[in-house]
Amino acid sequence: MPEGPVLPRRRLGGGLDCAAVGLGCMGMSEFYGPADQAESVRTIQAAVDAGVTLFDTADVYGPFTNEELLGRALRGRRDRVLISTKAGQLRRADDPSFRGLDGSPEHIRRACEDSLRRLGVETVDLYVLHRVDRKVPVEETMGAMAGLVAAGKVRAVGLSEVRASTLRRAAAVHPVALVQSEYSLWSRDVEDEVLPALRELGAALVGYAPLGRGFLTGRLDVDALADDDYRRGLPRLRPENLGHNEKVLHALVRLAGEWGMTPAGLALAWVLAQGPDVVAITGTTSPTHLAENLAAAAVELSKEQLTALDREFPPGVAAGDRYASRATIDG
Ligand SMILES: NC(=O)c1ccc[n+]([C@@H]2O[C@H](COP(=O)([O-])OP(=O)(O)OC[C@H]3O[C@@H](n4cnc5c(N)ncnc54)[C@H](OP(=O)(O)O)[C@@H]3O)[C@@H](O)[C@H]2O)c1
Repeated sequence: MPEGPVLPRRRLGGGLDCAAVGLGCMGMSEFYGPADQAESVRTIQAAVDAGVTLFDTADVYGPFTNEELLGRALRGRRDRVLISTKAGQLRRADDPSFRGLDGSPEHIRRACEDSLRRLGVETVDLYVLHRVDRKVPVEETMGAMAGLVAAGKVRAVGLSEVRASTLRRAAAVHPVALVQSEYSLWSRDVEDEVLPALRELGAALVGYAPLGRGFLTGRLDVDALADDDYRRGLPRLRPENLGHNEKVLHALVRLAGEWGMTPAGLALAWVLAQGPDVVAITGTTSPTHLAENLAAAAVELSKEQLTALDREFPPGVAAGDRYASRATIDG
């Protein structure tokens, strides 16, 4: 039996299901400042014990070390979880700042083999196209991913940060089990077109950064971030937008206080209230934060609470874009 609250389940496409809260492992290897590897492994294992089933990584996180960390932490626990990894972005181990895209079938097939090796598994449960490569028709990329399903290397496939029209084109080639996109009280872009399209197609939304990359916890000290913390470059945390966004955060802190919750718990409970086909992947390197976040999954917000949140956090409430560059975002 899992330890802690019983997590609600969510249906993904492709006949798979998972606990409503998943664990994102990206910050365990890079992007959010230094992380203790042993503590990260303990966090992953505590998540499995608590009933978390979806674990998210990508070939490029690290670069190229996060899958190894996840694979190591899951050894002996593999059959209790779904591993979600991503391909289609290019990085270089010897130049971590390099970024590129490659959605060619050859790259996708090779990337899958590399991911399987680094994870130390024979099959990836959810294989996600990290970003659409505009140089390659998505049908071709999707064809390669469908081939991986046919070969038994992948169980189901998904896309990340796509617009609805691209999602429909991809789904015409092979069923899409999920779309992974940023989704939180301050990032509601998917609600207009992507979420309705997903529902039409019977796929799920896997919302990443449900805690606004830490900002919506009310505990992120932007001035204290490490020099190489990726969040320093995010427009919403830049000085020109931070003042406005702190006012937005104050509303969350106030409501959470009134309702006897933490801001992180309330932010997460809101995402989970958006539908039985919405999964939230939080990122944490801390077993204590993990336990706090999982407790939020047991909270059912009332209609009145959801209305109050909608009033304070309408789409577009945040100042500043989600990313410094939209170059790789499909749309
Ligand atoms: N598809 C894509 O393009 C894409 C892009 C970005 C991310 N992702 C995936 O989504 C996952 C989640 O994104 P994210 O990491 O930005 O999620 P997030 O949950 O919004 O933010 C994670 C940050 O919040 C902090 N945090 C978490 N729980 C906390 C708590 N209870 N109290 C205080 N701080 C807390 C974490 O620090 P601690 O470690 O100290 O808890 C970490 O700095 C990633 O790991 C990655 O797998 C995908």
